[in-house]
Amino acid sequence: MAKTVLVTGGAGFIGSHVADRFLTEGWQVTILDDFSSGREENLPSAAQVVRGDITTPDAAALVRDGKFDALCHLAAQIDVRRSVLDPIYDATRNILGSLNILEAVKSGGHPTRVVFSSTGGALYGDFDPPPSAETLSKDPEAPYGIAKLSVEYYLAYYGRVHGLHTVALRYGNVYGPRQDPHGEAGVVAIFCNRLLDGRAMTVYGDGEQTRDYVYAGDVAAANFAAVTRDVPPAGRLDARAFNIGTGIETSVNTLSNTLQQVSNATTPIEYAPARAGELARSALNTAKARSVLGWTPQVQLAEGLTRTFEYFANRRSGAATR
Ligand SMILES: NC(=O)c1ccc[n+]([C@@H]2O[C@H](COP(=O)([O-])OP(=O)(O)OC[C@H]3O[C@@H](n4cnc5c(N)ncnc54)[C@H](O)[C@@H]3O)[C@@H](O)[C@H]2O)c1
Repeated sequence: MAKTVLVTGGAGFIGSHVADRFLTEGWQVTILDDFSSGREENLPSAAQVVRGDITTPDAAALVRDGKFDALCHLAAQIDVRRSVLDPIYDATRNILGSLNILEAVKSGGHPTRVVFSSTGGALYGDFDPPPSAETLSKDPEAPYGIAKLSVEYYLAYYGRVHGLHTVALRYGNVYGPRQDPHGEAGVVAIFCNRLLDGRAMTVYGDGEQTRDYVYAGDVAAANFAAVTRDVPPAGRLDARAFNIGTGIETSVNTLSNTLQQVSNATTPIEYAPARAGELARSALNTAKARSVLGWTPQVQLAEGLTRTFEYFANRRSGAATR
């Protein structure tokens, strides 16, 4: 019998890539999504889809009774700025929603492997030079990162105290086809749309701020590895946490220049005042994911940006089916 996975947030950007990956591996995929930011067109046709909110008793019942072999939990409020404006909304969905799912896994009594989509980009703060290792102290700049860190503490607790098999994947800035402009790497989607509109790409500050851009297909592969590979026993917060990135710092200037090259666009780059609260530098040390999960990123930035730009171009012309 095929193994089963529940992908929460599977109608979203990264979740749809995770669903694709499990389907390719022959798994039976169920998607739970409330379509607050997810889209019908992102859904793989072979997946079963349940429309629902992770904070509800119905969602808990699905998890409890579903006896899934794995659960990739991606459903979340993903807008860092929204978390600053409305931390209660962010915490309700991102902390309480996750807790609802974890309690349901516990009460279901099935050995479901739980993989949580955490953040590397919004967790470590700006106090040490990159690349950040998992054990670095955590100083999230926004309620979004605080919520992710809170859930990671719950994961460690459920692992240690209740024997749940939990893993946290801390992503860098994820980009790729089906990307939403509001996510942590929203800049890639915004720039692609600007290029297609023939409008200037706006860079805030001097453009030398760096991020670790990781391709969505590689993130999906990390989810699959986190479910199928052996991981260390539950222990301290970081015991079953893995950075998922490239380890490469890419500046916004490099990003915009590369996008110009891969799209053959002559659209200018314009500079605007730096935005308050933005990290200066960010990149993740991924040695642990390499050694324990056997995971390495496969897609280089220029290749990934080419695929992403093509996706947005095809979507405009109606050629993209998903
Ligand atoms: N995009 C990034 O760079 C990045 C970086 C680090 C972590 N993450 C995390 O990865 C996950 C996926 O992010 P994404 O960029 O694909 O965002 P996304 O908005 O495209 O996907 C989130 C999905 O969750 C669904 N959803 C939201 N709240 C829900 C709820 N209460 N109940 C059910 N469904 C709900 C949305 O409809 C959407 O389909 C999130 O947990 C996010 O925090 C993303």
